[in-house]
Amino acid sequence: MKLSPSMLACDFSKMGEEIVKISNSGADMIHMDIMDGHFVPNISFGPSIIKSLRNLTNLIFDVHLMIADPEQYVNVFLDSGADIITFHLESNQNSDYILKTIDKIKSKNKKVGLAIKPQTKYEALLPYLKFLDLALVMTVEPGFGGQKLLENQLLKTELLKKEILSQNLSTEIQIDGGVNLETIGIIKKYPIDICVSGTCVFKSQNISETVKILKS
Ligand code: DX5
Ligand code: ZN
Repeated sequence: MKLSPSMLACDFSKMGEEIVKISNSGADMIHMDIMDGHFVPNISFGPSIIKSLRNLTNLIFDVHLMIADPEQYVNVFLDSGADIITFHLESNQNSDYILKTIDKIKSKNKKVGLAIKPQTKYEALLPYLKFLDLALVMTVEPGFGGQKLLENQLLKTELLKKEILSQNLSTEIQIDGGVNLETIGIIKKYPIDICVSGTCVFKSQNISETVKILKS
């Protein structure tokens, strides 16, 4: 399983040092949670911060947009150094909008992911699956780190995996929220390719050891 530590849980006064620590920890990528105070009731950071971190590491930048109008901001995040951009299905009900946003990301040869909140059925992702590099199943309500894993969301990964296999796709399945040393045992029973983990990684005494355990 790949691991994508979330910068949301880092010490924001030392973002440069924190990202270098993650680079040396064995993590596969780094997750950037972008929140606008509209789509979710919290505000995090934006593209200029991502840009300032870009030259400190070769890690894959896995950018998770929790914002109201992702299509409008995709280019600025791509220019800031994002390698993967995941946006929320719930950000717009219109499928043309979703497809246009997917195309915009793919036209820059970057990877695209689509995320669903806990109350959204996995079936809502199916029409887009063949266009996606990543399907993100939120295992907490988006907006804040340090929440408890919603275990009932894990079943969605099995249902998505069946569909991915039956269509012979290479879409990866990611989960985000509540991944820690206590919950990783149950998580590993599901067909998950990438786990996001914020609090558990950044608050641990030994980041490399924690990354190793979560990935193994
Ligand atoms: C929640 C974010 C998550 C979150 C994960 O809106 O998308 O990435 O920071 O944090 P932990 O691992 O603390 O649940
Ligand atoms: Zn996230």
